[in-house]
Amino acid sequence: MTALFVAFEGIDGCGKSTQARRVADAAGAHFTFEPGDTALGATLRERLLDASQPMTPETEALLMLADRAHHVASVIAPRVERGERVVTDRFLGSTLAYQGSGRGVDLEILERATELAVGSYRPDLTLLIDIPVDVAHSRRTPDRRDRFEAAGIEFHERVRAGFLTLAQRHDNWVVIDGARDRAAVDASVDDALRTIGW
Ligand code: TYD
Repeated sequence: MTALFVAFEGIDGCGKSTQARRVADAAGAHFTFEPGDTALGATLRERLLDASQPMTPETEALLMLADRAHHVASVIAPRVERGERVVTDRFLGSTLAYQGSGRGVDLEILERATELAVGSYRPDLTLLIDIPVDVAHSRRTPDRRDRFEAAGIEFHERVRAGFLTLAQRHDNWVVIDGARDRAAVDASVDDALRTIGW
């Protein structure tokens, strides 16, 4: 079994968490997520998601990157180095799409800050589960206490467009149409994973 690192990305409510867990379970891979899947990350996640505590987009970005730096160093890289397969529900694409395209933090500066956080560490494959924002919202009522879910339709439109631009720019990203029925989405995800020998 080859060590592999795969990330699922997409707007809230796109179905990526279901896919990430399904894929990890089927392959006996390690499932993880951002932000928050470490003790330090859980504290950061609580602050990041709490809509009652305002913070600047730059603060948001730095906390996301701090979570990622710690997550890669303490969970992802050690497992991949041991030869394991790791599936993460969100990674760098989320910071570029949410804090960059969504909040307006300069994308080049975000890329440079990413160097500090994780160097050139990247997934072997990123699967973008893409669905229209109104479909995502109709699947799930946004939780107004969650800073990101409370941000509104236009914000999520910018985030979706940001994700699609990232997918166009990177060869190791695949766009999956997540608005189809579950079996079709499962099949497209499995096809994409086969291309990297999953
Ligand atoms: P997630 O855990 O995927 O959402 P859910 O509450 O549905 O399980 O992610 C939490 C929120 O964090 C989500 O709205 C997207 C946001 N986020 C960013 O804005 N930037 C990032 O870098 C990451 C990893 C997440």
